[in-house]
Amino acid sequence: MNASTQWIVGNPSDYVDGQWRAIAGDEIQSKNPANPGQVVWSGTPELTHVDAAVTAARAAFAHWKQLGQHERANHLRAFSAACKKFAEPLAQVITLEMGKTIAESRGEVKLISDKIDITLQESTLARVTNFEVDPGGGRKGFCRFQPYGVMAVLGPFNFPAHLPNGHWVPSLLMGNTVVFKPSEKTPAVGQWIAAIAEVAGFPRGVFNLVQGGVETAKRLTCHADIDGVMLTGSWRAGRAVLQANLDRPGRIVALEMGGSNPAIVWQDADIRAAVLECVRSAYATTGQRCTCTRRLIVHRSIAQRFVSAFTKVASTMIIAPGDAPEPNFMGPLVDQHAVNAFFDKQTIIREGGGRVLLEGVRMDRAGFFVTPSLIEVARFEKAGDSETFAPLVQVSVVDELQDAIAQANATEFGLAAAVFTHQHSVWQECLQELRAGCVNWNYGTAGASSKLPFGGLGRSGNLRPAGSFALDSAVFPVASMEVSSQDTAATSAATGLLATAKWFQ
Ligand code: SIN
Repeated sequence: MNASTQWIVGNPSDYVDGQWRAIAGDEIQSKNPANPGQVVWSGTPELTHVDAAVTAARAAFAHWKQLGQHERANHLRAFSAACKKFAEPLAQVITLEMGKTIAESRGEVKLISDKIDITLQESTLARVTNFEVDPGGGRKGFCRFQPYGVMAVLGPFNFPAHLPNGHWVPSLLMGNTVVFKPSEKTPAVGQWIAAIAEVAGFPRGVFNLVQGGVETAKRLTCHADIDGVMLTGSWRAGRAVLQANLDRPGRIVALEMGGSNPAIVWQDADIRAAVLECVRSAYATTGQRCTCTRRLIVHRSIAQRFVSAFTKVASTMIIAPGDAPEPNFMGPLVDQHAVNAFFDKQTIIREGGGRVLLEGVRMDRAGFFVTPSLIEVARFEKAGDSETFAPLVQVSVVDELQDAIAQANATEFGLAAAVFTHQHSVWQECLQELRAGCVNWNYGTAGASSKLPFGGLGRSGNLRPAGSFALDSAVFPVASMEVSSQDTAATSAATGLLATAKWFQ
């Protein structure tokens, strides 16, 4: 850890109204998953800071909104420049706190600035650009997009910088202010982000940070004075937000949740490419992505070759601490809870009749390191489908495409799916019938593009996609019919009244 990393990690704080508010205590601790003896961040959340942060964000809203999109874009460019300046220490903190490989962390940091560039492109902004129509009758029609106000952004641990950035960039650009609560597993990354926002020079109260776990999330998402909640997290967390906001239909709630993502590998697939993409997507970030492949559905005629090659690649990939020299592919799981959930899932599937082809075991070293798991099942069913953030993938063998599609769709979720085939007709049939928000052809389920919408069906999301469509959730449209005052009487739509209202003349 270099000096600048220590500077921020050593002072647990919230960031409210442009001021740092120190947090004492140790109720929440993040630890280096590769070396759990090393505490990275420690603090006891201050719920009163949530109220102060919302108050500050509310106070800052009017000025920020009035500043105009051009000025706000300049602030985001300054944020992007500050992210580039601190790219290396930020990447190091990501790896230190949640364990992913340093190459992946560097890639994640780059995505922050990429997201800002993409959001500022005219083609992205077109979705929320004011427009005028001619409704007839001498009137003018306008649609103008307005910011909601104060947005609560709740981030996940797996992409602790990139994914919440995907919520606050569009929110801020369109004139909302933000209160950010990072995952309690990655508070140091959250604190780094706030420090970068401070360097970028956002006006006071525009960007606020509050640290904490479930109680902080509850206080924030139930707060009477917020206007929206944007969450990337689990179905459980998203469900709690929905439930807490049942009586507030006017509050925007944009949820990006989990996945149980299938990959169909058809008989004519390029097996080498399919194996590499499926291994990558199943085990990227140690299986801790909502887009990870969880279900392999393979045609019987190639199943043996595919499974044997998959097993070989999976069992020889390099697993090492995130800061080890490349080329390591998988770091540790984030914490002991994740390790337990991994082994529990493996046991449940085995006891349900699954045949373990590659057994995931605890590695003989310090840290939350496990080896990948592959389990053959008779078929995929919707009943009991759940998401486990771990390097575990199941495989079933099929004969008919319709059965492959049925098994791919037999899920509570609907985030991502992949199809491996040379045949256009097979791809087309899958594209038409797979129920998922991201459906890829000869490309694995993981690794979404920020230039496309990103969201899913079922328990994966509430149909407010992030990615390039996230701007939609940052504004509401105001429709206006406008008639200049001297034309009002002449153009009145109330024609039936004109005869009886002659006395007006
Ligand atoms: C995620 O949202 O967990 C990952 C997104 C991606 O794979 O690109």
